[in-house]
Amino acid sequence: MKHYTSVWYLVVGLAIFFPLGWRILSFEQPVGVAPEADAVARGKTLFTHEWTDNDPLTKGDGLGPVYNATSCAACHRSPALGGAGGLEHNVTNFVAGRGGLPTIRQGVLHALATRPEFEETLSQVHSAMPPISRVPLKSLLQGQGGNNESLNIPPGVLLSQRNTPALFGARQIDEIPDRVIIGQERLARTRWGMIGSGTETSPVGRSLRLAGGRVGRFGWKAQSASLLEFVQAACANELGLSNPGNPQPAPLSKPSYQQVGLDLTLEQCRDMRDFVAALPRPVQQLPQTVHAQTNVMHGQRLFNQIGCADCHVPNMGEVTGIYSDLLLHRMGRDLTGVGAYYGSPVETAPSSGDGPLPDEWRTPPLWGVAESAPYLHDGRAATLKDAIIMHGGQGQASVRRFSLLTVPNQQAIIRFLESLRAPSE
Ligand code: HEC
Ligand code: HEC
Repeated sequence: MKHYTSVWYLVVGLAIFFPLGWRILSFEQPVGVAPEADAVARGKTLFTHEWTDNDPLTKGDGLGPVYNATSCAACHRSPALGGAGGLEHNVTNFVAGRGGLPTIRQGVLHALATRPEFEETLSQVHSAMPPISRVPLKSLLQGQGGNNESLNIPPGVLLSQRNTPALFGARQIDEIPDRVIIGQERLARTRWGMIGSGTETSPVGRSLRLAGGRVGRFGWKAQSASLLEFVQAACANELGLSNPGNPQPAPLSKPSYQQVGLDLTLEQCRDMRDFVAALPRPVQQLPQTVHAQTNVMHGQRLFNQIGCADCHVPNMGEVTGIYSDLLLHRMGRDLTGVGAYYGSPVETAPSSGDGPLPDEWRTPPLWGVAESAPYLHDGRAATLKDAIIMHGGQGQASVRRFSLLTVPNQQAIIRFLESLRAPSE
């Protein structure tokens, strides 16, 4: 009898814990062990490959039909392969209402297409906008110096851009345990008096919980929880290469476009992920003279004192010198942007749930920041000082303290940021 009871317990136990165990096992695991050299070499070939329509390296239609560049390396290239990109490669996101209907369309306006009939233009997002595929950032920043060239964006349409970040240290970010990010969130809440993170003034961020309970950490909106997921999304969205993780987007002009076969296998995506994971992390490089070194250290102390480090947290778990809490912060009404980075243009109910708000951005890690200009999510800030001054919302108090510093003290902070460099190899 006793024997049967324990079998029964086992069955009930399995029924309860199996789904949970399965979910945990099927999570995209971080890279873990150092990526293997062969995979990294194959990944590098794919990362630098100039993709073409019906490319021989794919089993599908190759590049496109719509895409933003012909290789990963075209955007991620400065100051070295895997680095950041200029304004000319900004990605344009749109969200458009459907004339009173309860759904919206959102997606990426791709800059390029393999054939003229696939070209995506603003006029396909809304008929009142011009038939252009490339949108200059200036024309989106109304009232911020770009007035003459500003677009007439109709009500119900939101356009924003994303600048290419550097990928150095992506492996370290991938491997930070969720609990470290959540711990940082709790610490800030406790410190600022258990207030909710919806606050618009205190530097209390929130972790973005994604499907399956995982914590987002990649992308300007922390929209992706693992490096592999992001790489797959980038393949589909930037290059039009469909893969097991993401379908390729169909052209706005031809939503019925049918893809033929998968462009990339999971192995190819993993190789690319391994290449990105093998990129070294950024480093701090101190200047030559003792005098200049002391100034950098002085700048670093001020950076902590005036509250920059409340969000740009120096260490996360075992990862040192990252200068980010990887949390979302509300950054004020000038720094807004909505829209999904990846996927086909989708029709959804206007954002309900816990998705990022228009003014919420993930604190960008400042490691390597000396060499990743232009700055902020759309690259609107040409210099480090511009980037600092433009912080609003939860960043405003520390920026006010920055403005009150003497010029040499402000410069010391800039000198400190300039010591945070991309890896030299
Ligand atoms: C057209 C320019 C462009 C191309 C081509 C491109 N990227 Fe990116 N990449 C971006 C932009 C812009 C972002 C930020 C997107 C966002 O957060 O909304 C980004 C972000 C990323 C990130 C997340 C980094 C982080 O720390 O948040 C990874 C990883 C990445 N790209 C990998 C790739 C890979 C792999 C390829 C090739 C398959 C690729 N990218 C091709 C522009 C590009
Ligand atoms: C409330 C949190 C918070 C505080 C406090 C804060 N920042 Fe930021 N910082 C952010 C976020 C979020 C962004 C990205 C905003 C965007 O892209 O629109 C950012 C962007 C930056 C950038 C541009 C990085 C890049 O890669 O584009 C720099 C440089 C920077 N911060 C420096 C500072 C300095 C110096 C201070 C102190 C004076 C400071 N920050 C205070 C959250 C914060």
